[in-house]
Amino acid sequence: MDKYGLYIDGKWINTEDTLEVLDKYSQKPFAKVSKASENDVDLAISSALEAFETKNLSPYDRYKILQKSSELLLANKEDLAKTIVLEAGKPLKQARSEIDRSAQTFLIAAEEAKRIHGEGVPVEAAPGSENRLAFTIKVPVGVIGAISPFNFPLNLVAHKIAPALAAGNAVVLKPASKTPISALKLAKILEEAGLPAGLLQVLVGSGSTVGKLMMDDERIALYTFTGSAKVGLQLKQETGLNRLILELGNNSPVIIDKEADLNHAAKTLAGQSFAFAGQVCISVQRIYVHETIKDIFLEKLISEINQLQVGDPNDPETDVGPMIDVKEAERAEKWIQEAVEKGARIAIGGEREGALLKPTILTNVQPQFRVVCEEIFAPVASVIPFHDLDACIREVNQSDYGLQGGIFTQNLDTAFYAAKNVEVGGFMINDGSQYRVDLMPYGGVKDSGNGKEGPKYSIEEMTEERLIVMNLRK
Ligand code: SIN
Repeated sequence: MDKYGLYIDGKWINTEDTLEVLDKYSQKPFAKVSKASENDVDLAISSALEAFETKNLSPYDRYKILQKSSELLLANKEDLAKTIVLEAGKPLKQARSEIDRSAQTFLIAAEEAKRIHGEGVPVEAAPGSENRLAFTIKVPVGVIGAISPFNFPLNLVAHKIAPALAAGNAVVLKPASKTPISALKLAKILEEAGLPAGLLQVLVGSGSTVGKLMMDDERIALYTFTGSAKVGLQLKQETGLNRLILELGNNSPVIIDKEADLNHAAKTLAGQSFAFAGQVCISVQRIYVHETIKDIFLEKLISEINQLQVGDPNDPETDVGPMIDVKEAERAEKWIQEAVEKGARIAIGGEREGALLKPTILTNVQPQFRVVCEEIFAPVASVIPFHDLDACIREVNQSDYGLQGGIFTQNLDTAFYAAKNVEVGGFMINDGSQYRVDLMPYGGVKDSGNGKEGPKYSIEEMTEERLIVMNLRK
């Protein structure tokens, strides 16, 4: 069985206490990873602080390290993709695309490292300030505590580490304990790309031990977290006045207007509801369809879903693989059954075998059903008819969440009206909520969190603006 240590202060540390990482398709262990103790957490944070204070890299040096890391990610694409297939159960073609995206995330962060700047402030325009000159600079915040989820074990780690380093910070990362190996391999890549010891540490362990110790440590200046709204709220309550970037859940809505291109909508949504078994924060979950085209749209959607290949994530043709574990698949199945008991109908899917839940579409649902009002994080979506666009948008906005949403329509007025009125951080026209490229601002409103990801936007969050005023004598 492969063994992996923790990464602290540029050293790989093996501990007695280990956790087993399961192949998510066979559910059998394939690797052992060292677990961090309280002392390891303390050492990691003090190493990060020391490196932050003593190992100042110029923006150009940061650019070079991040750009080299981007190259190395692509050079190691197949190995990393196979790691993601094993530890996350993500289908190979989606895992490969995650490596390409991670390389982009590093490259964009590298480029952004060269354009971090403040602005001139016209203080001389204030009465009595005639001889003053002022400007701001952007300084790094210090040690960043990053906690990443299982669903993008490489690219959501990249979205935390790359901008943090681009901005001149040091990082202590806790990847998801179900999928820690991609993050450890990424640390190796950064080491090979020349990152000085101490600027990144990777600690593996549970949220309630390692995560909690990180949350309670005042040496961490900013937390960046992707995960559930429940843990996000706990972080907010426990980290006091520290800065926070929170990327939380969503029950993403997409509207299919009567003037939509139905073939395009059906094909797009069959992909976007079920990629990585629906375990994506922006997976399409609520599909609101104008009642006049509901039946024809549903027929087209089912025909597209029938073309998806479901099963072994190692097979390059597979579209939908297993969920992260049997427990999660059972939970999603229970939500489906609960909806059916209350009157919902299964238009397709619903069957489960171990962690593999078939792509499922429900109809006849009500807004208060869990499959609709909570984040299901599984390959399950509901088709909900509407008559009037305003009423539909009101129903869409009844959600506690607001990460991304979308509309399919050929009518520009309808598209803009929806874009202005649906309460989300990002809105897609003629695409589903799951559209994301790595340079764009990404983040939600309401319980979907606060702060934005996307290297340019994360760097804004991960730096302080400092004002400098010169009192000139002449
Ligand atoms: C997420 O699940 O929040 C990330 C989605 C993505 O990066 O495509």
